[in-house]
Amino acid sequence: MVALINVSNRLPVTIANTIKPSSGGLVSALEGYRKTHDFMWVGWSGGPVDSPRRQRELAEELKSRFGYHPLFISQQDIEAYYTGFSNSSLWPLLHYLPSYSRFDHNWFEAYKKVNFVFAENIAELAEKDALVWVHDYHLMLLPRLLHELRPDLRIGYFLHTPFPSYEIFRCHPNRQELLEGLLGADLIGFHTSGYLRHFRSTVLRLLGRESRINTIAGKGHDVTIGVYPISIPTDKFLQKMTSAAYSRHLEEYRRAYAGKKVVIGVERLDYTKGVPRRLEAIEAFLKRTGRKDVVFIFINVPSRESVPAYQALRREIEHKVSRINGNFASIGNIPVHFIHQSVNFSRLCALYTLADVAMVTPLVDGMNLVAKEYLICKPDGDGVLILSEFAGAAQELPQASIVNPYDTAQMARALENALNRTPEERQKRLAPMRRRILRYNAQRWAGDFIADLAGVDKSVEKGA
Ligand code: UDP
Ligand code: G6P
Repeated sequence: MVALINVSNRLPVTIANTIKPSSGGLVSALEGYRKTHDFMWVGWSGGPVDSPRRQRELAEELKSRFGYHPLFISQQDIEAYYTGFSNSSLWPLLHYLPSYSRFDHNWFEAYKKVNFVFAENIAELAEKDALVWVHDYHLMLLPRLLHELRPDLRIGYFLHTPFPSYEIFRCHPNRQELLEGLLGADLIGFHTSGYLRHFRSTVLRLLGRESRINTIAGKGHDVTIGVYPISIPTDKFLQKMTSAAYSRHLEEYRRAYAGKKVVIGVERLDYTKGVPRRLEAIEAFLKRTGRKDVVFIFINVPSRESVPAYQALRREIEHKVSRINGNFASIGNIPVHFIHQSVNFSRLCALYTLADVAMVTPLVDGMNLVAKEYLICKPDGDGVLILSEFAGAAQELPQASIVNPYDTAQMARALENALNRTPEERQKRLAPMRRRILRYNAQRWAGDFIADLAGVDKSVEKGA
């Protein structure tokens, strides 16, 4: 029995032959809470584990080593719930790409089934009046299901993607069930006030429910809504930048790229991240300026490779990269370095520090942590962030060089300007953004959400 349960589709570990802790912003953000809260994490084991004996062993090990409660989901359900409904239906729609969105009745059945498995497990694990924090689009039905099983729980839900406008969300065949599912929560959080506004208007137009700025009147209970922009674990980055591994990598990269300007892009290989258009902007830049002293490093981490749209994107990017390199490379100078692998944390920090410019140009992105990570890894304040106006992060980082990711000519000009800025200009613009991230870090984000969830007044439960 535990007082705080964190729930996400995936547990923050990779289970292959061994269990490896994998740390993302969310994990680090919540780590601090373990000191003061009895804290459990519920999520999918992340891979197929069929043997009941192996499942029991893994569950025991994950519980004793990390305080995690794994859920084992069959390969068939994963294909329909994760690859299908979550990533081929919801993800594109939430990112304003209905033409990428596919619908299949069986996917929704599996989505309901898996959400229900989560609900049953949590209902059993949670002590009376516990806080349950549910994350992201894979689990939109969970708040309602859980509320029905355990009305005593305080249920928070945080959406890590954008919430699109009503005109987009209404395309989804299961739009009503999804909204009703979410409204089972006591508190719903978004990254920006724009997403919150879209949610309110969608709830009004699809369900006919009125709302106030921070409350939606529900059937059985009122739902509080709020804006909580996620941030990064700044301490973890600052600490890493004092390590020997980081200094060694930075030195290695400085030697490798001596005399070059370095422009970096880091993301999962995902069609929302705007990589093809960024490559077009780079091509236009190289054509116009003829510069031979600029190197573009693309770290494109493999992602959701079972989804056909991601396979097609990989082919498109590889084609564009080889065309640019074919046209603009010379002996000893290859402009685009495309790395379709993940890089370890100290290398990533060193690359951020090295880069003169970061191009973060998603077509749409809930927040985008890479933008914030680049800034924190610039302790001397010397760097330029080119940032899409359609990333949630643009709301908080107005001193970035803000671009429209659909306008390749504008992105090419922004790149040229970025490379021509004086050190004083670079520092003047970067410093306030870095200060903001140091002030409002991941710990604050999690703290604010959990404090608001703990403060929910359950006595106003209608009919309770
Ligand atoms: N990242 C990673 N491995 C890598 C490169 C990046 O884990 O090889 C991390 C990166 O540091 C960032 C996260 O992936 O924390 C990407 O988060 P973001 O919000 O930018 O985009 P998302 O992937 O959530 O859409
Ligand atoms: C985004 C989503 C997360 C997801 C992550 C990686 O950040 O908001 O919920 O975990 O991408 O995607 P994956 O499909 O590998 O879990």
